[in-house]
Amino acid sequence: MFSSFLSSLFLLLLAVVYTNAEIQYQDFVVKEILVKRLCKTHRVITVNGQYPGPTLTATDGDTLVIRVTNLARYNITLHWHGILQIRNGWADGPDYITQCPIVPGATYVYKFTIINQEGTFWWHAHALWLRATVHGALIIYPKLGKPYPFDKPHREYPIILAGEWWNQDPNEVLRQATITGAAPNVSDAYTINGRHGDLFPCSNQGTSIFPVVSGETTLFRIINAAMNTELFVSIAGHLMTVVAADSAYTKPFTTTVILLGPGQTTDVLVTADQPAGRYYVAARAYASAQGVPFDNTTVTAILEYKFSSCTAIHGVQTMPPPLVPLLPAYNDTSTAAAFSAALRSPGPVNVPDPVNETLFFTVGLGLFGCPPGMICGGPNGNRFAASINNVSFVLPSTLSMLQAYYFNVPGVYTEDFPPEPPIIFDFTANNISLSLQQPVQGTKVYRLKYGSAVQIVFQGTNIVSGEEHPIHLHGYQFYVLATGFGNFNPDVDTKKFNMVDPPERNTVGVPVNGWAVIRFIADNPGVWLVHCHIDAHLMWGLAMAFIVENGEGDDQSLLPPPVDLPIC
Ligand code: C2O
Repeated sequence: MFSSFLSSLFLLLLAVVYTNAEIQYQDFVVKEILVKRLCKTHRVITVNGQYPGPTLTATDGDTLVIRVTNLARYNITLHWHGILQIRNGWADGPDYITQCPIVPGATYVYKFTIINQEGTFWWHAHALWLRATVHGALIIYPKLGKPYPFDKPHREYPIILAGEWWNQDPNEVLRQATITGAAPNVSDAYTINGRHGDLFPCSNQGTSIFPVVSGETTLFRIINAAMNTELFVSIAGHLMTVVAADSAYTKPFTTTVILLGPGQTTDVLVTADQPAGRYYVAARAYASAQGVPFDNTTVTAILEYKFSSCTAIHGVQTMPPPLVPLLPAYNDTSTAAAFSAALRSPGPVNVPDPVNETLFFTVGLGLFGCPPGMICGGPNGNRFAASINNVSFVLPSTLSMLQAYYFNVPGVYTEDFPPEPPIIFDFTANNISLSLQQPVQGTKVYRLKYGSAVQIVFQGTNIVSGEEHPIHLHGYQFYVLATGFGNFNPDVDTKKFNMVDPPERNTVGVPVNGWAVIRFIADNPGVWLVHCHIDAHLMWGLAMAFIVENGEGDDQSLLPPPVDLPIC
């Protein structure tokens, strides 16, 4: 009798969980507004006039229907970073990869269902450099009744880092760099939730405040939305307990500093266990490339204890200035590496093993010669380039690759992306010969059979300049088995693979002049972009794409495109 009561309770719960899935409609209007920052007023492309853009929240199982209307003067697309888009690449967003752009005046409805995903995600423009200001948080809550794997925090805040700020239209920065082949101008400041903090001119009122209560715990969902900069983050006087990265839970560990590459997210718990007061949350660059200019400013927000005793006395603010946290040096690669090495899945996971595809991808910069009659702004009068396996990726311009694949349209891409670099050399050596610095341009894909177990070794190169590259794979989460410095050596380094509890991510930092090994099962059919999430490197060609074929089973084929898919 009791057990039948239990089972009907279970069925009832199941029904509640089942019917709880909602359809969420959103209207996103892309438009230009005037924003005042650093004492100057700028025209900024936004969603719904907000900078950063609106935070979306949903529950695992929900369907999101986001109607995007483009009232700006640029072509645009939106990407839902970290959402798997199972069989549904049509909603993934990268321009000319999965769709043609939404032209000014046009509308496209992104429609996708969250399938067994929860945590911190974000959305951003995936065309030109519109991502600089067109981005926002996307928070997916667990299904009803499913708790977090940690004590429920008292409150939570998204923290969108960076959104580097230029005293110039970022798309103009991109345009200039594209013409001259030089490195794009570095930004003038970073932001936290759109604000620079009070260390900047005209920014006294421009600080993000996070109210906390003594003894209580806050969940911060931190997103690095920067275009070009990896960032260290610390909070004065407070430890952070890392509980998730890239929407995958981690074995909790405490730290005074975290590192995020562009594209990455980290969730931390912070307990307000210090004397009531105000404490800076601060971020600044981890700049791993030697001798390369970067924005060396520090952005701050304030963790503010509510009901702190020293607030208004007779209406006068007598608050002492906030404490400043210690941040690692800009080039502190050992702190960066130690942070990445501390990430683990909460328990044992199923690492794909053995693998059927063993890929070795070199990732790094390069140079193109300057066309005759032009003056170029890159090193020694050349143009900057970047590549994977010496192929510098070129976006198609007539049709998206996913449409070309689905409708069998020839001439958009070729299927000869190499599984390894054309020449094996000392990738991390100091003076790599000029002859190895020039990649070839191409729009090449690598084909994967449905369900294959794939291993990729990403090998950073020191061509032109070594740098940590945050490599993002669309359509998948993957396990990071190991990272290291120097050249990957299979005989030695395979022994270092974590086959028990490797962290799961969608964006992996390939250490400066080092390597990272990932594995995943290719069970999401479609065309999926792999790229460095540093936009300066993406524009130079640090990308490739996979075609993942359909499987034989019922639910293993790419769905047909929506009727309103933009045309080129
Ligand atoms: Cu966060 Cu290809 O993107």
